[in-house]
Amino acid sequence: MCGIMGFSGNLKNESSVGVVLNGLKSLEYRGYDSSGIAYYDNDDRLIKYIKKAGKLINLSNEFSCALPLNSDVAIGHIRWATHGRPTDENAHPHIDCSGNIAIVHNGIIENYAALKNKLIKKGHRFITETDSEVIAHLIEDYINAGKSFYEAVRLTSACLLGAFAILALDGTSKSIAAVKFGPPLVLAQKGNNLYVASDISPLIEYTNDVIYLKNSEIAHFHEGKLDITTFKGKKVNKTITKIDWDASRAAKSGFSHFMQKEIFEQPARILDAFSSRVMLKEGIKDNVISLNKIKMKRAKKGFNENTKNNSFNDVFAGLDISLEGLKLTKNDIVNSPKIVFIACGSSYYASLAIKYMMETICGLPVIVEYGSEFRYENFPISQNDIFVGISQSGETADTNSALEVAKAKRAKILSITNVPGSQITGLSNKGVIYTHAGPEIGVASTKAFTTQLLCGLLLALYVGEKSGLMPRYQWLNSQNIFKNLVELPKKMEKILFMDETLKDIAKKYYKSGNFLYMGRGILYPIALEGALKLKEISYIHAEGYPAGEMKHGPIALVDENMPVLFLLSNNMLAPKTISNIEEIKARGGKVIAVADYEPEIDGLSDLIRIPETIEVLSPVLYTVPLQLFAYHIAALKGTDIDQPRNLAKSVTVE
Ligand code: AGP
Repeated sequence: MCGIMGFSGNLKNESSVGVVLNGLKSLEYRGYDSSGIAYYDNDDRLIKYIKKAGKLINLSNEFSCALPLNSDVAIGHIRWATHGRPTDENAHPHIDCSGNIAIVHNGIIENYAALKNKLIKKGHRFITETDSEVIAHLIEDYINAGKSFYEAVRLTSACLLGAFAILALDGTSKSIAAVKFGPPLVLAQKGNNLYVASDISPLIEYTNDVIYLKNSEIAHFHEGKLDITTFKGKKVNKTITKIDWDASRAAKSGFSHFMQKEIFEQPARILDAFSSRVMLKEGIKDNVISLNKIKMKRAKKGFNENTKNNSFNDVFAGLDISLEGLKLTKNDIVNSPKIVFIACGSSYYASLAIKYMMETICGLPVIVEYGSEFRYENFPISQNDIFVGISQSGETADTNSALEVAKAKRAKILSITNVPGSQITGLSNKGVIYTHAGPEIGVASTKAFTTQLLCGLLLALYVGEKSGLMPRYQWLNSQNIFKNLVELPKKMEKILFMDETLKDIAKKYYKSGNFLYMGRGILYPIALEGALKLKEISYIHAEGYPAGEMKHGPIALVDENMPVLFLLSNNMLAPKTISNIEEIKARGGKVIAVADYEPEIDGLSDLIRIPETIEVLSPVLYTVPLQLFAYHIAALKGTDIDQPRNLAKSVTVE
């Protein structure tokens, strides 16, 4: 929610405004209601600013004739409105009464009204409807009281309640300060130049060495010198993190949209996610006795492992799952009464599918909770519980706050995220599994979602192997999983080759006003995700349902104008789902089926035939045609695919 970018330094061929404008382009996925830039003009010796409602292009057009060249320091903002309408006036930066302080802010200032009233009584003039403007006036107020710019920023930060990442520019000292409490801020220093942004995407063009600010820290950059302190003024020594993303990954590379590029990247990203983490190992047979011991121990505690049906002797090889940085021990797993997944949006749907994987592979009870709901529930938390936060951005306020609740009760926290150094990583006392999807720019999640599914499976295998609970079923033996994992990228490619077919199917349906998506078992969350993709980018109303629930309500919606998309797999639930399809057909509904076999059903409107894999990997494959379908429908409707209306990539406020 909102992106901020700042630069201070001297570049031969580029002005500070150019650097910031360029950075805002990479951050545009975070918000696009309005944007603005403030810079210090060396010739006129004052802060100037331009801000415009609407997309970043409106701001760029303001600079289209010439960029102000004689400026060494600038800050910029791209907004997703919370307080105040998305107008020119409410756009950031906000300026104090003297015109000497400019600020940009990502987050919410909860006590702004009280602070504003106090400042108005002291004679400060407010121009906007935002909560953020109060920051500029508060800094000014401390400066008026004789404080230095840095001190004024520090004291201001200590007064604010809520969540904030702030950049402040001082016209007197020509310095900038960056403040973090909640939303992320990343710095990169290269010689005498300082870059600071909401995430690493605008920085990787300049360097791969970055510094993540922690909560309650302030960075002050003045005359080439960077000082970082806490809100209490204590100096902090920071370590540099090396980022392995490269700048080209954040470009469209010939695709029409980032989303399209990210869909097509998935075979490679899935390979990145598992290739160095999974090995087939020999000799698990030797462990059979100890595995059975663990099972007996757990059976005493009341876990029903269905021991009789498990045939450990059929397992001739095991999987070596190495999840770098994961600190989950065998004891943690064996003693955990429950595993709780916390997430929002697509990450929540990934968690639902991962629940199925974990329960199938390890037989451990798994609960999946929305971050936004969990934090206000009276959920019983034990210190032996394992909490897994899933978040592409690692910044989702609801997910992180829910994990904080669990952490306060001393539960064990781990996370699956795509963004190194993001807030969720700091909460994860039991480690982080990185999805290695690379920068995801399209607001609708695609490669982040499928890599989350894959990492969830790796976690389930890791937990299963480490605790001796795997495999629960003979068909789920390690060799089979390994073989199917290795084949997965190729099978995804096969689906991507069906792009034209999916486009043709999209042509038949893009004028529909509604859609139902049906799936069962592990494919039910994929029905939810498919419906969400369609809603997000094409603005067509779509609902995901468990196919077995159809008769309990949604069937009332079915008529000749209601396309119903079924996810059908060749398993024991197939006959039941086929009956559901017949029921739709009998009511005149149009049925599209995505299936991993040739089902014997007459009168299907469309069949999307995809390759077969094992059940725990099937969500990855079934997701791809749904992404392409939504993409083509949106493209035919001409919507703004990468930046759908009203959405922002990371929801960093409640
Ligand atoms: C997905 O397409 C959405 N844009 C959204 O639901 C997203 O998954 C959700 O906001 C959670 O984000 P996170 O994974 O960064 O936490």
